[in-house]
Amino acid sequence: MKNSRLMQPAITLQGLRALKHAGGKIVALTAYDATFARLLSENGVEIVLVGDSLGMVLHGAANTLAVTMDDMVYHTRLVAGGASGSLIVSDMPFMSYATPDQALVNAARLIANGAHMVKPEGGSWLCDTVAKLSERGIPVCAHLGLTPQSVNKFGGHRIQGREPEAAEMIFSDAQALEAAGAELLVLECVPSALAGRVRAAVSMPVIGIGAGPDCDGQVLVLHDLIGVSMRTPRMAKNFLQQGGSIQQAVRDYVQAVKSGTFPEPMHGSDH
Ligand code: KIV
Repeated sequence: MKNSRLMQPAITLQGLRALKHAGGKIVALTAYDATFARLLSENGVEIVLVGDSLGMVLHGAANTLAVTMDDMVYHTRLVAGGASGSLIVSDMPFMSYATPDQALVNAARLIANGAHMVKPEGGSWLCDTVAKLSERGIPVCAHLGLTPQSVNKFGGHRIQGREPEAAEMIFSDAQALEAAGAELLVLECVPSALAGRVRAAVSMPVIGIGAGPDCDGQVLVLHDLIGVSMRTPRMAKNFLQQGGSIQQAVRDYVQAVKSGTFPEPMHGSDH
């Protein structure tokens, strides 16, 4: 087995950007260990996200807030041991990037343990941090819309960007983060029209989750896709419902994203 800690990924940010500009779709899924990371890589998933959703999925917590840097380093190392060829993006956990200097130290730990890119959550207040990481060779994936680490500010895991001012804020934050150096954007639980506007306004690929079909790609939590989560969220689909293997469910998801048949309107945030 090839160990991705020793390899460059076959999927690069340059390749993903070219895919966006050619009108292709990008497929992303979460993984937290080597076995599933390998399964995703071998079945066509381009981005493996070591999400801090592991706090809910693996630890059984109600939100992501108790996930630590040590947790993320550990799971990044496991994923890097299995994924071969996919781009590995690791979440920066709650309060691990409160200042640019703190972010640099923590992002460097994730990169040293096998991540190719890091993902903090938040808007233009993160621009200095994004610039600092990017200038020092650490690629950054931004995350806007429903940013789960702000669950207490939002009063729950709620759709964001419905009101015009909130939509404008997300729109301008996306542009500001790209100008600061962000090279990928996850847009979570926003109306599809807003996602389409953001996607058209930025050069970086926009990966949606609960953000409708007008994104450059899609991401889901693997455990939702195979129907073993406590509750399948509205934006997700159980691709294992009809039976078959996990490998086939992942291939069906890849095919559905690539062909534009997933997400359907029912997986979006428009109603
Ligand atoms: O933590 C995670 O899995 C995520 C995705 C849901 C986008 O950030």
